[in-house]
Amino acid sequence: MKSHWENIYSSKQPNELSWTQKIPQISLDLIKSLNLSKSSSIIDVGGGQSMLVDFLIDLGYTNISVLDLSKNAISKTKRRLGENAKKVNWIETDILDFKSSIKFDLCHDRALFHFLTKKNDVKKYINKISLFASKLVVGTFSIEGPKRCSGLEIRQYNQNSMKETFERGGFKSISFSKSDHLTPSNRIQKFIFGVFENSN
Ligand SMILES: C[S@@+](CC[C@H](N)C(=O)[O-])C[C@H]1O[C@@H](n2cnc3c(N)ncnc32)[C@H](O)[C@@H]1O
Repeated sequence: MKSHWENIYSSKQPNELSWTQKIPQISLDLIKSLNLSKSSSIIDVGGGQSMLVDFLIDLGYTNISVLDLSKNAISKTKRRLGENAKKVNWIETDILDFKSSIKFDLCHDRALFHFLTKKNDVKKYINKISLFASKLVVGTFSIEGPKRCSGLEIRQYNQNSMKETFERGGFKSISFSKSDHLTPSNRIQKFIFGVFENSN
């Protein structure tokens, strides 16, 4: 799996990747709705080359971590950020192996979670997140969205399945939002975002 993503990030530019967003607007709106303080600890899991970290720095957040299993993705994102890269805590690991020594006020995930197609991995992911995050914003392909991404199978969600999946893992649902992502090649991909609170 790691080699798949390393290969993608070493061979493709952001405008060749369907998930690239110029502005991660839905994520920013949902994060804003949580009214977190600027010193809150925020981790973007499967951050890849997302611009979310750039926007969070610009908004004044001071405690940001980006986790991804791809070294290439992290290096490219660091390069893009230049000096600002030093303000971020970079974590290169598979989320399923991640053992956090610190607690995060918010975990954000756009388009990592849906690659977990095995029930056991889904359970493991939710269990991991519940050990370190108070709140969670997660965006996945919806049941009206693509069936694959980056040549890999994904798992689609709707409000009910997302609610059931995360509530079973001890999260309380706060809100759900549908979101249309316009890919760099001008296709619409239908996402659903859920916001949850850890009630463990
Ligand atoms: C479709 S991309 C989305 C990237 C970013 N979140 C965005 O919105 O632009 C999925 C990302 O998840 C990372 N990823 C996939 N599986 C992972 C895992 N098990 N642990 C950590 N990162 C993973 C990939 O390297 C990739 O950067």
